[in-house]
Amino acid sequence: MKVLVIGGGGREHALAWKLAQSPKVQCVYVAPGNGGTASDARLENVAITEPEALADFAQREKVALTVVGPEAPLSQGVVDVFLARGLRIFGPTKAAAQLESSKAFSKAFMQRHGIPTARSQTFSDAAAAHAYVEQQGAPIVVKADGLAAGKGVVVAMGERAAHEAIDTMLDGSALGVLHNEGGARVVIEEYLDGEEASFIVMVDGEHVVALATSQDHKRLRDGDEGPNTGGMGAYSPAPVVTPNLHARVMNEIIKPTVAGMRKDGVPFSGFLYAGLMIDADGNPRTLEFNTRLGDPEAQPILMRLKSDLFDVLMAATDGALDQVELQWDRSFALGVVMAAAGYPQAPQKGAVIKGVPAPADDLMVFHAGTAWDGQRLSVSGGRVLCVTALGVTIKAAQQRAYDGLVGIRFDGAQYRTDIGYRALLRK
Ligand code: AMP
Ligand code: GLY
Repeated sequence: MKVLVIGGGGREHALAWKLAQSPKVQCVYVAPGNGGTASDARLENVAITEPEALADFAQREKVALTVVGPEAPLSQGVVDVFLARGLRIFGPTKAAAQLESSKAFSKAFMQRHGIPTARSQTFSDAAAAHAYVEQQGAPIVVKADGLAAGKGVVVAMGERAAHEAIDTMLDGSALGVLHNEGGARVVIEEYLDGEEASFIVMVDGEHVVALATSQDHKRLRDGDEGPNTGGMGAYSPAPVVTPNLHARVMNEIIKPTVAGMRKDGVPFSGFLYAGLMIDADGNPRTLEFNTRLGDPEAQPILMRLKSDLFDVLMAATDGALDQVELQWDRSFALGVVMAAAGYPQAPQKGAVIKGVPAPADDLMVFHAGTAWDGQRLSVSGGRVLCVTALGVTIKAAQQRAYDGLVGIRFDGAQYRTDIGYRALLRK
């Protein structure tokens, strides 16, 4: 069978790597892919990104199954295009992907269905938004309504930063936010304190299977300092998600969300990612939904998955996830992101990358912003590599990942040296 992975980041490299391990899979196409998927003989990059062109390709090549990595093609309706042509694809429709692509949609959805989240209000009028901030005080969180590639959230510790964020987001032009229909809107919400965790499940419209738990590291620098990024490293499992908390998240957040989407006439299929904030008393609340796997969470999660991902995705696209029980390696997995100079504000491209270690059973370097010209590997995006390792303890996985990373060199490389520290603090 041939499969197609849409996207070109570290998450998509991990999906393609895992799918290629299935004995049923003969070829994995990655569109557009990256330097890592280009240099792996079992994977083949295809330079296509438009939904209709992707569907043409899938039809022509008799692709048995397509899986979508990033949010952008989902909100462009790639799943709708494939389904209209009778092509098998795993991911939410454009309407269901609004859980991520519109903060206003997802906040209203959570309020309507009683799903625990921060109190909030949505504004298109700047004066009303400013007045709300004055009334609520700081700290407070300001979010752009449309997709903003991780740059649409300002956690304002003072009121001034909140007012500035409102002005930039409602003006919009400087930020690169993809506004939803109806123009620029901001969601202003209560600041939540606690520990974050990523809770990712697979949904087939009705049934749910939870993936292994994970935790991301959103800030650029050690100790959770510096600007927000797409994620600088992740590990799985996340000890903060105890069995009791796991059950609560399933019952209070995930199941009501899947049932609510069905009830609202927009059944959800695909990976569903709840970004959680867990307060000091252990109560989970939803910071946001993503309608896809996390990146870099996917890299450690998929490294631990023992089940055949192709079989699982076939079951998911048959509406048969109730028949699936996922098998996980009992090891810990931990991935450290290496980012380009200037990331996240202005990543510099072009640096030559050397010293990437060969894959091993317990070590895999997933590529993201890399390009391979047949001879040289170079930096082509903000997050460049994710060095991911397995270990019997979180400490051992951390050690192995950093051992794998030391030999990798490119100008201006940035990475955190403390990935996994929260799990280690718990020991
Ligand atoms: P989001 O894109 O909504 O996940 O927001 C990005 C990051 O901003 C999250 O991972 C949190 O670190 C932070 N954040 C978002 N919403 C809140 C909130 N209500 N309270 C505190 N921090 C938040
Ligand atoms: N790592 C966070 C995300 O994928 O949104």
